[in-house]
Amino acid sequence: MTTFESVLQEARLFAPSSAFMEQSHIQGLEHYKRLYETAKADPDTFWGELAIRELHWFQPWDRVLDWQPPFAKWFVNGKLNVSYNCLDRHLFNSRANKPALIWEGEPGDTRTYTYAELHHDVCRMANVLKDLGVKKGDRVGIYMPMIPEAAIAMLACARIGAPHTVVFGGFSAEALAGRLLDAEAKLVVTADGSWRKDVINPLKIQVDEALADGKVPSVQQVLVVRRTGQPIAMDPERDRWWHEMQPTASPQCPAEPMDSEDPLFILYTSGTTGKPKGVVHTTGGYNLYTHITTKWVFDLQEDDIFWCTADVGWITGHSYIVYGPLSNGTTTVMFEGAPRKSNPGCFWDVVERHGVTIFYTAPTAIRMFMKLGEDLPATRNLSSLRLLGSVGEPINPAAWMWYHRVIGGGRCPIVDTWWQTETGGIMITPLPGAIATKPGSATFPFPGILADVVDMQGNPVPENQGGYLVVTHPWPGMIRNVHGNPERFHRTYWDPIPPKDGHYTYFSGDGARRDEDGYFWIMGRVDDVINVAGHRLGTMEVESALVSHPAVAEAAVVGKPSDIKGEEIVAFVTLEDAYAPSEDLMKALKNHVAKEIGAIARPAEIRFSEALPKTRSGKIIRRFLRAMAAGEAITGDTSTLEDRGVLDQLRGER
Ligand code: WTA
Repeated sequence: MTTFESVLQEARLFAPSSAFMEQSHIQGLEHYKRLYETAKADPDTFWGELAIRELHWFQPWDRVLDWQPPFAKWFVNGKLNVSYNCLDRHLFNSRANKPALIWEGEPGDTRTYTYAELHHDVCRMANVLKDLGVKKGDRVGIYMPMIPEAAIAMLACARIGAPHTVVFGGFSAEALAGRLLDAEAKLVVTADGSWRKDVINPLKIQVDEALADGKVPSVQQVLVVRRTGQPIAMDPERDRWWHEMQPTASPQCPAEPMDSEDPLFILYTSGTTGKPKGVVHTTGGYNLYTHITTKWVFDLQEDDIFWCTADVGWITGHSYIVYGPLSNGTTTVMFEGAPRKSNPGCFWDVVERHGVTIFYTAPTAIRMFMKLGEDLPATRNLSSLRLLGSVGEPINPAAWMWYHRVIGGGRCPIVDTWWQTETGGIMITPLPGAIATKPGSATFPFPGILADVVDMQGNPVPENQGGYLVVTHPWPGMIRNVHGNPERFHRTYWDPIPPKDGHYTYFSGDGARRDEDGYFWIMGRVDDVINVAGHRLGTMEVESALVSHPAVAEAAVVGKPSDIKGEEIVAFVTLEDAYAPSEDLMKALKNHVAKEIGAIARPAEIRFSEALPKTRSGKIIRRFLRAMAAGEAITGDTSTLEDRGVLDQLRGER
């Protein structure tokens, strides 16, 4: 593993400045250690005290944790509402007129909502959803641009107890249909279109396509927000405009008291096999976990302007644009645009214009900015920034150093945060006033998180040796189930590593090592998940998309290291007899995958071959394909191969 080698030599250490430490929530390593040890010795008391202190409950819980592995219940019988914690409670203190959400659209239009205004609109949307027949427990699909109404829709769902399932606006109609179908969504909130790199992404047309021919029978209504303004077709039976319903909807809607374990949302994510999994998160544990991680990891202060650049369609957007910051009463920034030819410096304009103090982005973006050069950030005033974050994939030390020097002006701590859709919130991370950072290391587990690096039997591996990253005790933000498929939940996360001394072990699917100082270094996926520009894609999903094309007999997909994107997709394809390899076919197949899944899954390369390397039992040997895609020599045992000629042939195709 190349990243393994390079990070091994990383010895630079960046201690928090005393100025930063003095104003932070967790001050110094000793403070962190104390918290960590307290939480480890008695997790129930640790989480229970935090839940009382940090959240509003309509009814207290009887028990902090009911753990029937692998099923956890947190804050048993407690009643609360996440939308209440994100909005209402701030109205009674001095935050009613504080900006809750600062939004900027790609064309440069902006809107700011105070907490009172956001509360108003969330209540209205909640009432509209109720008018359209949505009841507690009904699922609502959200397929939206990065506009305030996306957050408003999420909070409105939370308010009435209708779990949402947000589908990233870049996913295709097919991918949308699959998710809506699996979640049995009753209603979809969407927009006419979204701005994406100066063109309109026609969201409503994709919704129409997804719902055509009764493909998703559960969906009865579609609520459409006007964003881009181009003419669209409205089905008079099914479709309603938000701007027509909003003015008459009451701005009063009491928050429904939800059971702590009632589902808050389902979010689909890629796994090793089969279709994307519906990761289920519930109310109390998720609210507490995203709240406290936002507060401590980003060291929130009352006047912070917090900008997480993720899309709300991903878990990062759920937890660190919407729920975590708003629960803390912070001002959160939402930006529709993306750096593009016509405006490559737009991110730095947003920082300057809104005085962003905390900036949270992905390594793939940082590497892109490195390539664009230092002029773009240098010509903007970035002096408001005081803390930087990274998420989505391992950050290579060179990108870390650039981020620190060029964006952070050498003064901002960097929090490299490891976590997953399944974990709900940040798990391994520096606490910026407490932990000295090493470029490329996510450092230590958050207090209350028991993480380890183990072998396949669950035994801890020696320091500096790679192993599987696991979590050995439940935590409030953990995945509760795979929607409609508890068996898959079991198999994916809890079966791979056997229980140790009766403790069930959560298998993350990532590899890691710990160095001589106990720092965690994440090495990336150990399974067949590809991380393209911080987006998780299962090889199986892309392969299924390819073989659904009539020309394709068989396909195998692997990740290939890429300077900017981390990984990109290389597909090995064998064709049906009637088809011959050609440039046109290559293009057609790439477009086909983009249409089936979304542009993020478009293969960077397609290689045609007459056969794929397989074991005698017919299993494709991806190791060989990965090496071939990366242009590396094939090493190791090739004796398992059924037909060794295949490798020569594949090489010949290069
Ligand atoms: C990867 C995104 C290294 C990892 C929050 C994980 C990281 C997957 C980091 C989850 C990091 C995320 N360092 N790798 N700081 N953060 N990853 O579900 O492989 O979209 O398993 O959640 O991203 O991706 P997901």
